[in-house]
Amino acid sequence: MTRTVVAGCAILGLFALFLAPAASLAAKKKGPKGMGSMVERGQYLVTVGACNDCHSPKKMTPNGPVPDETRLLSGQPADERLPEAPPNIIGPDKWGAITNNHFTGWVGPWGTSYAPNLSPDLDTGTGAWNEELFITILRTGKFMGSGRDILPPMPWYNYAKLTDADLKAMFAYLRSLKPVKNLVPPSVPAPRPN
Ligand code: HEC
Repeated sequence: MTRTVVAGCAILGLFALFLAPAASLAAKKKGPKGMGSMVERGQYLVTVGACNDCHSPKKMTPNGPVPDETRLLSGQPADERLPEAPPNIIGPDKWGAITNNHFTGWVGPWGTSYAPNLSPDLDTGTGAWNEELFITILRTGKFMGSGRDILPPMPWYNYAKLTDADLKAMFAYLRSLKPVKNLVPPSVPAPRPN
């Protein structure tokens, strides 16, 4: 009898050994309330929302340009100027646009726009922002939530449809990034035609 109990305990112990890592892995992957899961959801949304396409400087690879992970989402590099816009691309009856190698700087009929630094650097990024400001910017399409209209090609009107919970998760992910010091030049809206 005693022997059976001891053997039973040993078997249970073995199970516990195998189950523990799997269980803790599952908890880490989709823990419903933890900050970890919110950051992971935010990373997922930022990835499918294509924020890196315009807000991350690129590096060239054999497969084409990819986000430079050493300065993820840090916006138009401060030390790089845009090339001159070639003639015949922008005009009263032309609405083409040009961009640079990073896809972070744009010239179009709306003027010149530079994707801002979304990394959590305190002085040059979003380090001093809170969730509320982030949500207001994406819902209103106003620069810093109350300024001028946000210029193309930032598709804020699509992101405005995200739920508060999704936008909060995206902001949590942005907060988890490495802060990159990069003072993006201000965008220059074109004068409105009258
Ligand atoms: C097609 C390019 C493009 C994509 C995709 C894009 N952005 Fe932008 N974004 C820009 C540009 C350019 C600006 C600057 C517009 C301006 O200065 O008026 C901008 C501005 C912003 C601002 C405004 C900052 C402020 O100070 O008010 C925020 C916030 C922002 N983007 C977040 C995001 C997030 C989050 C995503 C992904 C969900 C994203 N953007 C995807 C190009 C893009």
